[in-house]
Amino acid sequence: MQIRSKSNQPLDPTDGTELPRPLATLQMLNQVARSLGYAEGPGSPFIAVTEGVGTLLRADGVAVLVRDTAGGYAFRVAHGGLAEWNDYTLSGPACELLETLYFRDQVTVFKRSQRSAWSREFLLAAGMNWGALAPIRVRDQNVGALLVNNRHAVHVRPEHIEAFENLATLAGVAVQEERIREGLEDLFMSVIVSLTMALEAKDPYTEGHSVRVAAYSEAIGKQLGLPSATLDMIHRSCLLHDIGKIAVDETILAKKGRLNPLEREKMDMHVLIGEDILRPIALLHPLLPGVRHHHERFDGTGYPDSLKGEDIPIEARIMAVADAFDAMTSSRPYRQQIGEEEALSELRHAAGTQFDPRVVAAFEHIYPAVKRTLENLRPRVDEASAAEPAES
Ligand SMILES: [Fe+2]
Repeated sequence: MQIRSKSNQPLDPTDGTELPRPLATLQMLNQVARSLGYAEGPGSPFIAVTEGVGTLLRADGVAVLVRDTAGGYAFRVAHGGLAEWNDYTLSGPACELLETLYFRDQVTVFKRSQRSAWSREFLLAAGMNWGALAPIRVRDQNVGALLVNNRHAVHVRPEHIEAFENLATLAGVAVQEERIREGLEDLFMSVIVSLTMALEAKDPYTEGHSVRVAAYSEAIGKQLGLPSATLDMIHRSCLLHDIGKIAVDETILAKKGRLNPLEREKMDMHVLIGEDILRPIALLHPLLPGVRHHHERFDGTGYPDSLKGEDIPIEARIMAVADAFDAMTSSRPYRQQIGEEEALSELRHAAGTQFDPRVVAAFEHIYPAVKRTLENLRPRVDEASAAEPAES
């Protein structure tokens, strides 16, 4: 393939920086292709690709743009001089050009000095003078583009363009892999959430408990100023927090009155069992700390690890407050529910011992609004027996 600029003139092959030789290029491609299958963590398949592009074109800035359903192009990962564009989505003329790129089906190279639409829209950082775009396709679908920005023009030969196209193909594999992973994760989440709901629905005392804990916890997190990705993680952790109870004997779960020490031990195991159930799915690993630690206490006397203060993950500190409040204001086989004012006062009383005081304060702030949205999710049971301390 010949390299052409927007004006359709072959690029001057003699200007700029020297790029890797063919063997080094091939080794780089092999390395990227191999690392795709092993990469873990958010964005990591793309990181292998962008690092490869960085090596190939001595790039000062590299980004993977992924087309969204509305036709915008989101910066899925952006490095170097383009890092500030992370999480930004392009719209307007830039998207029209990217649609053209897909139909042209070839790498487009552009320079600042050409003053073309390409250089205007895609030389995105200050001081960048040379750029290249490769379309990313998955099974003939336009899924995005690989973007490079350089301060100086580079000496690109046909094999570099071919390697750049290969990296765009690998980026397509990464997009596809991410979609499959997300699909699997959603499927697994929905199975687990259905199991939790089924577990709760069997017992009218706990019906809707996890959904309410999730709503309270997400609102608390928002009040504390946590980022949206953390709020999403908290919401999901809450929906699954008691999944380990699936392995606890029903006679223990439904027992009226206090649990004896052996029963208590079995009940407390639900946090570890829950963690074991979720651990096989790597993408659910961010949810494990909340599941494991939601019965820790701020003063270090909780379980399973007796963590103290801010050593307890924030999602677990939040969940502890939401969980206890919902337990106190719902009837359980072993005790009568208490009124919300009394429950709030219990939380205040236990701030600094059982609970993180900041989380309790945030809960008091968000409770009235969240309560209104949850009215129709309250448990149906009103009868109960003697009052006991809160237990989820
Ligand atoms: Fe629990």
